Amino acid sequence: MTEPFPAFPPDFLWGVASAAYQVEGAVDEDGRGRSVWDTFCAEPGRVEGGDTGAVAADHYHRFPEDVALLRDLGVGAYRFSIAWPRVVPDGAGAVNPAGLDFYDRLVDELCAAGIAPAATLFHWDTPQALEDAGGWLSRDTAARFAEYAAVVGDRLHDRVRMWMPLNEPVVVTMFGYALGQHAPGRELGFEALPTAHHQLLGHGLAVQALRAAGCSNIGIASNHSPVWAASDAEEDVSAADAYSTLVNWLFADPVLRGRYPAPELAALMPGPVVEDLKVISTPLDWFGINYYQPALVGAATEGSTPVVEGAMLPPGLPFEPRPIEGYPRTDFGWPVVPDGLRETVAMFTDRYGEALPPLYITESGCSYHDPDPVDGRVPDPDRVAYHDGHLRALARAVADGADVRGYFAWAATDNFEWAAGYRERFGLVHVDYATQTRTPKDSYHWYRDVIGRAR
Ligand code: NOJ
Repeated sequence: MTEPFPAFPPDFLWGVASAAYQVEGAVDEDGRGRSVWDTFCAEPGRVEGGDTGAVAADHYHRFPEDVALLRDLGVGAYRFSIAWPRVVPDGAGAVNPAGLDFYDRLVDELCAAGIAPAATLFHWDTPQALEDAGGWLSRDTAARFAEYAAVVGDRLHDRVRMWMPLNEPVVVTMFGYALGQHAPGRELGFEALPTAHHQLLGHGLAVQALRAAGCSNIGIASNHSPVWAASDAEEDVSAADAYSTLVNWLFADPVLRGRYPAPELAALMPGPVVEDLKVISTPLDWFGINYYQPALVGAATEGSTPVVEGAMLPPGLPFEPRPIEGYPRTDFGWPVVPDGLRETVAMFTDRYGEALPPLYITESGCSYHDPDPVDGRVPDPDRVAYHDGHLRALARAVADGADVRGYFAWAATDNFEWAAGYRERFGLVHVDYATQTRTPKDSYHWYRDVIGRAR
């Protein structure tokens, strides 16, 4: 018999999330500058089906309808991202008032619906002009990012209730600069490491700029997962450790401890690293974890070409990710491991103890290739099971003593899933891209009930 759905603390924040390039469309409107994703999508073979974010879910024009859906869903918060190239089209210099006005309207609409706006400042859409000058390989980008943060903070500090400068810096470094699956499509291998440092520096500087602009409740949305060793053999255990150091601690330790997890890594970072780490570790009000799936990692085997999410890893690494067997998979092929969320939270409470601020789950979700709506209904039992299982796992983490304050389901609506284009559907709301019709899926109704019962 299934256990009853667990209770969450009364002030637990229920949310959903999205990101600008994935939903807005309107890429040429109202003075928006070009981003690396516009460029990347225009390159043949980069994105599945030649898809682009040019129209996406047309959220730029349809946000009132989307906010009405969120209001009916009953969420306490909506996590969205602000497109840097809308606000500062060239990434530096002139501010585009029409870009800021759009977010002003969105934020007002959310407030009027009783939904707390939770803003991400950088969800991967680097202004192309900055990329042309080196992008996150250049230290300058961190300073430009802080200037942009100050502009946004100045305008929205009175209404935005949660701030996160960065989303998943590990993905930008790994898939954007090291392996080339994401914009800007560089394949630099370990030479991509400076992009980790510069994003982190940009984060720290942006936190300071936001505070100076009067913003409060500032965190980060960082992607983390347990890394399981392929066996108990010493070489597998140390391979898994090395992998976790790169994908988890390289990004969390500087923010939460003010140091890199290994001196060898610190030595590879550019600039006055010790000074920068003081900025990077500017205290946060909370730390946000995005969780999707664990990793299984073993020691490298002779002659194999290890792959992560379809990207070939550079040769000569001491570790290799292996497929996880024995769990159901989403239609994207990701293993569904709800307890991995509990494990991720536990990994943070164990590692950081008292130094850990309150946690939010800033994203978790799954893609299933849902059927088209029939009579206004989209049955998506697997998505319901995903969120149900992950929330139960999260409740176990809370019962174990973790201070977790909220959960943001990824995503509010179906949207542009980066290199996979529109093939993957993560939304609680179905989008028919031909007509832009929104249809709440069964998971939307299920989540509404969960939120309603929790009140
Ligand atoms: C995390 C990213 O932040 C988001 O943009 C993406 O769509 C989801 N993962 C699913 O891959």
